[in-house]
Amino acid sequence: MGLKADHKPHAVCIPFPAQGHINPMLQIAKILHFKGFHITFVNTEFIHKRLKLNSIANSSINGFSNFRFETIPDGIQPASDEDGGAEAPHQDMPSLFHSILNNFSTPFCDLIHKLNDSSCSGVPPVTCIVADGGLTFTLDVARRFGIPIGIFWAASACATLAYTQYHQLIERDESYLTNGYLETSIDWIPGLKNIRLKDLPPFFRTTDPSDPFLNWVLTEVEKASTASALILNTFDSLEQDALQALCAMYPHLYTIGPFQLLVDQIDDDDELKLMGSSLWKEHSECLAWLDSKQPNSVLFVNFGSTATMTLDELTELAWGLANSKKQFLWVIRADLVKGGSEILPPEFAEEIMDRGFLTSWCPQEQVLKHPSVGGFLSHMGWNSSLESVCGGVPLICWPFIADQMTNSRYACTEWGVGLELEKVERNEVEKLVKELFEGEKGKEMKKKVMEWKRKAEEATVSGGSSCKNLDKLLEILVGNND
Ligand code: UDX
Repeated sequence: MGLKADHKPHAVCIPFPAQGHINPMLQIAKILHFKGFHITFVNTEFIHKRLKLNSIANSSINGFSNFRFETIPDGIQPASDEDGGAEAPHQDMPSLFHSILNNFSTPFCDLIHKLNDSSCSGVPPVTCIVADGGLTFTLDVARRFGIPIGIFWAASACATLAYTQYHQLIERDESYLTNGYLETSIDWIPGLKNIRLKDLPPFFRTTDPSDPFLNWVLTEVEKASTASALILNTFDSLEQDALQALCAMYPHLYTIGPFQLLVDQIDDDDELKLMGSSLWKEHSECLAWLDSKQPNSVLFVNFGSTATMTLDELTELAWGLANSKKQFLWVIRADLVKGGSEILPPEFAEEIMDRGFLTSWCPQEQVLKHPSVGGFLSHMGWNSSLESVCGGVPLICWPFIADQMTNSRYACTEWGVGLELEKVERNEVEKLVKELFEGEKGKEMKKKVMEWKRKAEEATVSGGSSCKNLDKLLEILVGNND
């Protein structure tokens, strides 16, 4: 990368305010910092309070050289001492979307003006923005300041491609979307293979173009094409066909994942490398429990930061796990069960005492790298899916919303690393857990996931596709692309 000699490039990184977006954005920021950028990482006040409570309290906030945090108000949360508590509930998403469109741009511009005023900021002038795909108001801000902008889309390539297909679905046959034929095969999307209607985002299942969430996603997906660069956390060999199709829509597409493998390459004595971004308090005791187990003997069960299930589903899952007689580490987030805290039957606790470990939030990346973990029952959020590949852990896939459906389908049919949980019933859960640990399919999946792990590593070492793409992206972000 040909950095200009007169000043350090300065990237302002702004994630969408939710866990599955903050984690990969912090990884991007660490990578850019390692490559010589000054970083300003911008959180909403609500998110920053939770990060301070749960993850970055012990890191000397703003004590890192060339890496600073800043905050902007999100316009929906009163800035009181009570908000942002360690277990604070999620923010209301419709209010957040509305507020992003109406309230974020002005404080964000003011912040950039402040940073550019070197007499009081003491930092180099802002030279680029890296923003989440859900914050495309930043495109106008970048234009106003005359600087390049990278938009990070926090989904896989196959799911991103699926997001672009709503209008084509409507044009082909509206009844597709609402008539309940979820098994309908969708074989006409270039770049997507073996897809059924149910593998596309569930929010497509409306023919009401004024649906606010649908509208918001479709607008953001379209606007992202005008960015200087579109950044995806994936690697070329994993999603070749989908990437080829996406490149026609987004010519400035850069696949630089898995980010976590690039972060692993940062020097160990760089304190920033270890800084976490959990919005919940991590319970690390599960790592010692895993240490006491045999290799590949534990099923890890976790559903990310937003998925919610009914109490019936929780109960069926619990008995499926218990009846499988396998050891498991199960993360039950405080707000995992719809409408209240979870209640597991007392007989269940007795039954699983010697082989189950329950917790409310864990250091997931470390868990998935632990040799005792032999399988992952997951909601198939994209971060979780990739972390599983990087850990060489095969999956049982129970997708809930948005991109998770497409990720699940690809894991099961294209990548050969997952088993689809079709019905949340105890017998089905038990069957799949046994298949994963004892069956032929389980053995094949383990082999496959180890191959993908190796390919992910190849992509992220010097000369690999993600490394080369990162170099090209850096050129764009420093404005050397013409
Ligand atoms: C969401 C979507 O599901 C995802 O597909 C989208 O692309 C980004 O936003 P989320 O549902 O939270 O995110 O899932 P996921 O993408 O898997 O992200 C969760 C992150 O939280 C992962 O990085 C995971 O390691 C971390 N996590 C989760 C923990 O560190 N500990 C936990 O106990 C649970």
